[in-house]
Order: sequence, then structure tokens, then C-alpha cells
Amino acid sequence: MSSSSPQSFPNRKKITKLVFRQKKQRGEPITMLTAYDYPTALAMDQVGVDSILVGDSLGMVVLGYETTLPVTMDDMIHHCKAVARGARYALLIGDMPFMSYQASTADAVRNAGRFLQEGGMDAIKLEGGQERVEAIKAIISAGIPVMGHLGLTPQSVHQLGGFRAQGRTLPAARRLLEDAQILQEAGCFSIVLESVPAKLATLVSQRLEIPTIGIGAGAGCDGQVLVTHDLLGLFERFTPKFVRQYANLHAEMVRAFSAYKSDVEGGLFPAPEHTFDMPEEEWAALLAEVEAIPQ
Ligand code: KIV
Repeated sequence: MSSSSPQSFPNRKKITKLVFRQKKQRGEPITMLTAYDYPTALAMDQVGVDSILVGDSLGMVVLGYETTLPVTMDDMIHHCKAVARGARYALLIGDMPFMSYQASTADAVRNAGRFLQEGGMDAIKLEGGQERVEAIKAIISAGIPVMGHLGLTPQSVHQLGGFRAQGRTLPAARRLLEDAQILQEAGCFSIVLESVPAKLATLVSQRLEIPTIGIGAGAGCDGQVLVTHDLLGLFERFTPKFVRQYANLHAEMVRAFSAYKSDVEGGLFPAPEHTFDMPEEEWAALLAEVEAIPQ
């Protein structure tokens, strides 16, 4: 039995936001990955990944958009439902898409609620700092745990002038530190830090009581997250500098599809073992019937 089989976790309990806090206190790294479908969630839950984020990165790596901006609430709920059917133990976090929480606090609470009520999620994530405090407090008072997201916030890609590292100047770093403190005070249970200098992410992590989850933010964060399609080599358009690729599934897919095409074209697939037979007497009776019908 491999060390990563589900049987390796005999006393497994559902991961909650309290487990996140305990892991930070014990200095144990928190593991998080993105998933958008049932089989991926199943595999992650099998190896004991702490948390699964149904990220709005869905828009880019699954739906083929240039940015995350076109992703809708209905897209997110559809994929959250699939992930929730695959994962029993991981803390499930649904990413609020662009314009689902920015226009009004009422929208923010209603849409956050859909993630739990319809999508089967345990918590939500949203992007931004002090400008989001009102929405965050309202969502939390509806009983919904909130994860923050600072640094490179992809829903503001046009405001930021592209997908680029953040917090590299004194004012930007100071602002990020302040925003992190504000999100903690607003009640966030954790904060994603994306594409910020490792030194700054370490400082933020040391200053906060709540855990930070880094992506492109170095090893000083309390946990790590990657976009699964980057880790698996499934997203061909570009690979950010901070990604470690653990597989090249795009190349593997190309190999398999090409082998299938050439087998079908060459008459090698399907083979006899891939076909169904029928009892001889049934076949003989059918032939007799067919032969009796004039053509
Ligand atoms: O949408 C997403 O996948 C994310 C991660 C990059 C944290 O927000």
C-alpha cells in the first residue's frame, strides 16, 4: 500500500477553519490546491490535502478565457457542486467571481450564501483589502467563513497593469501589511498572499495570528496553494515563475489522443476484447428472420 493511499488516514476528520489555526500554532504547513471537478477532488481528498479551492482560475485553465473576469456565479456553483461530490475531508473554499461582491453588500452576502447552500462549500474567498471590510463583516455575520486574498489579485488585472508581482515598494508593502491586519480584524480565518516578495510574506505571516497561504510568496507563509493545472502541466499558455511542475499531463494527453487516432485509423481499435458477443442461437434466429425479409 502506498503511503498516500486513503487507508493511511485511519482517524481522519473533516478539516475546518479551526484546524487551519491549530496548524499555524503548531508550525505545520497547510496544503491547499485548486480543483474544478469530481475526479480531481477525489484524488486530492485521497492524499489528505487540507483544503481545496474552487478558484475562479477556472476561467483561464478550464474555460479558456484570457482572464478570470468573465467567470459567473453560475459557472462557479456548477464546478463547486462537482468538487463537493468528490471531497469529504478537505476544507472546501469557493472563490467569489468578479462582480459577485463588489457592487453591494447585499449581493456579497447573497452570493456567498449560494456557495454554501447550492455549491456545497464550507467557506468563501474574495479579493481585496480595506475596501472589502463591509462585505467581509456582513458575510461572516451570516455565518460564512471568509478567506482574504492580497497581493496580485487577478480580478484587478487591468487596474494592476497585468499579472505582476505586488508589494515591491515601501508604500505598496506598507499597504499590504496594513490590509492583512485589517482583514484579520474583520474576521477572515486566513489570507492568500499571491505574488509578493518572500520577505514581505514572511513578515506578514509572523505578524498575523491567522494563517497565510502563499502562491508565489515564498516558504515563510503558513501554507501553500498552487493552481492544479500548473502543477500538472495541463495549462500550456504560460507557467508562472513560482510553479513547480510535478507532471506534464498535456504532453501525456497529446500522446494518448494521437495513439488512439492512429489505432482507429489503422483498424487496431477496437479489438475483439473490446466488443460484446451474443448467444449463437439468438444470432442464428436473427439471421433467419432477416433472410426471410425480401430486400
Ligand atoms: O483562483 C484561484 O485559483 C486563486 C488561487 C491562485 C489562490 O485565487
